[in-house]
Amino acid sequence: MTAIPPKPKARPERVSLFRYLRLFRRDILSAQPAKLYRAWMAEFRTPFFRSYMINDPKLIQEVLKARPDEFPKSERIGAGLRPLLGDSVFLTNGETWKRQRRIIDPAFEGGRLRDTFPGIMAAGEAAAQRLEPIADGSPQEIEALTSHAAADVIFRTLFSLPIEDKIAQQVFHEFRAYQRSQPILNLAAFIPGPRWMPRFFKSETRRTARKIRSLITQLTQDRLALIAAGTAPDDLATKIMTTPDPKTGETFTVSEMVDQVAIFFLAGHETSASALAWTLYLLARYPDWQEKVAAEVSGFDGNFSDLSKLKVTRDVFREALRLYPPVPMMVREATSRSTFRNRLIRRGAQIVLSPWHMHRHNRLWDNPDGFDPSRWDTENGKSCARDAYMPFSSGPRVCSGAGFAMIEGVVLLASVLQDFEFKTVENREPIPVAYLTVRAKNGIWLRINRR
Ligand code: HEM
Repeated sequence: MTAIPPKPKARPERVSLFRYLRLFRRDILSAQPAKLYRAWMAEFRTPFFRSYMINDPKLIQEVLKARPDEFPKSERIGAGLRPLLGDSVFLTNGETWKRQRRIIDPAFEGGRLRDTFPGIMAAGEAAAQRLEPIADGSPQEIEALTSHAAADVIFRTLFSLPIEDKIAQQVFHEFRAYQRSQPILNLAAFIPGPRWMPRFFKSETRRTARKIRSLITQLTQDRLALIAAGTAPDDLATKIMTTPDPKTGETFTVSEMVDQVAIFFLAGHETSASALAWTLYLLARYPDWQEKVAAEVSGFDGNFSDLSKLKVTRDVFREALRLYPPVPMMVREATSRSTFRNRLIRRGAQIVLSPWHMHRHNRLWDNPDGFDPSRWDTENGKSCARDAYMPFSSGPRVCSGAGFAMIEGVVLLASVLQDFEFKTVENREPIPVAYLTVRAKNGIWLRINRR
């Protein structure tokens, strides 16, 4: 085992555009040169457009917080997701996006977030019940388990349905098929083609997208009927569907809601599953930290007000989000000319913000590649948490589910670590690769023992 947790090998400094594209197709992380871990800004020239990765906290602040309207989401990235997500809040820009956030955000605000806690707890308990050590001690693939658990969280909190529900099961399986046929981060979106180049989807991608959308439409219509009858449960779906836009007084139509449910499911489940799987791997790799977490959570008996006491668990989860940010890169498009670090950024340039590189930047972090959850109490950790840590992005377009995901992460870890112990498997070190989320190339394999 190496001293630091797995980090993809960087590519050589100079490669041809053709080689870069081939590497890129394989994995965005290992397609990048090592110098990006110490650069403040880097330029990529392609035949059709320029793109710039920015790692300077001041520039990130400029793009995400000070002038977000001038740097909307890049259309290129949306292309692969449109058949499934339609006009969901993840893809829209401008006034449409603002209106959607006005309706969605109240459901995720502090006080109302508390209402989702029983659903998250129930999913945590169900996940712990599903875990079963294998009698001969064989390893198990953890991402499949966390993916199941995270899907359960979303269904329970959004529609008050456990993952065992028939429609929930179908949606979960179809989503997997969708991701196999169309990896979520459509690499074609990054690949330097001209904007007019048509994007082709496999017929399998279209078929699964249609199937998922019809299942979600059914759930949404059923919910509308319950709302009309006054018998709807007070979950996220009801909250979002009954919240009028404070400006126009209008609520989402069924088809708008279907777009949003699709992204909640996708953004909320892929990301949390990845974060939880890497956290369990890191805990298996650093058993002293696993014991600290196990000791802390042993006293947790499911009270919302005790969650804030689970500090070690939260610090471990934050550290896992730093080393393996589930969303490794985000792309924006410059709609006006700017000057960044004395370089002219033209209209149409792609701006790449990389939590992956920012979180391991060697001019900003102490021990950037090491696993050290106690860093959050140090001066360096505190200043980096403010300026160089963005697993959920930041500014007005910050992840809608950030607060939710932090509760979910801590609760799920508490539920499984109360009963189980996780151990690494020799010669099965996971290799991080990035699609839309950071996953392990051949899965994350751990041995599970009952405590
Ligand atoms: C550990 C878990 C999660 C991580 C690391 C994460 C990360 C992110 C990031 C980085 C973005 C910004 C993407 C971009 O600008 O290109 C984002 C957006 C979003 N996330 Fe999350 N997310 C997580 C969980 C969730 C959950 C649980 C939900 C919902 C229940 C959710 C809903 C969304 C939505 C709706 C957006 C789009 C926001 C917008 O564009 O206005 N996420 N997430």
